[in-house]
Amino acid sequence: MKVLIIYSPLLLILFLLSLSPEGPASQPIQEPAQEEEVGPLEERMLVLKRGMRSLRRSLKDPEKDAASLDVIVEMQKAVAEGKLIPPPMVDAIPKEGRDEFVLDYRKLMILTQQELLKLEMGLLENDRDSAKAAYDALKAMEDAGHERFTEDG
Ligand code: HEM
Repeated sequence: MKVLIIYSPLLLILFLLSLSPEGPASQPIQEPAQEEEVGPLEERMLVLKRGMRSLRRSLKDPEKDAASLDVIVEMQKAVAEGKLIPPPMVDAIPKEGRDEFVLDYRKLMILTQQELLKLEMGLLENDRDSAKAAYDALKAMEDAGHERFTEDG
């Protein structure tokens, strides 16, 4: 009897486990959430986004110019690559207008490159006003670029 009392909780647990085929050990491993695919152009755009965000603060501080210059060069690379990747929206443009669409896209990306070069030069020459003007121009180009070359403007 005593033995039964001592072992009964254990027996109960064993009994309950036998009823539950989905014990923790046999539960299927949770698949990681499917990562949303980032397209090649979007990948470069995200470099611009991060760059603009960090420049917003760092440009105000000449002590941070070296770090700002690193960011600017990364952005220049992203635009140099991105200008050769047609925007996905091109598929929604009638066939006869596609060449012009891609050409206009490339030209605006070249203007973006030029502004990034002015920004770099501004910092190298410690011309804060010129650097600030180039930063503002980049913001305007972002808006213009998205208005014309993305589906949701
Ligand atoms: C500093 C300037 C810019 C920044 C910070 C920027 C940022 C971004 C970001 C964050 C996205 C992804 C949007 C999303 O899906 O969440 C994006 C997409 C896009 N941007 Fe820009 N952008 C800039 C300039 C431009 C310019 C100048 C153009 C056109 C000449 C442009 C064309 C596009 C296009 C076509 C997409 C869609 C890419 C895709 O879906 O694969 N962007 N941009």
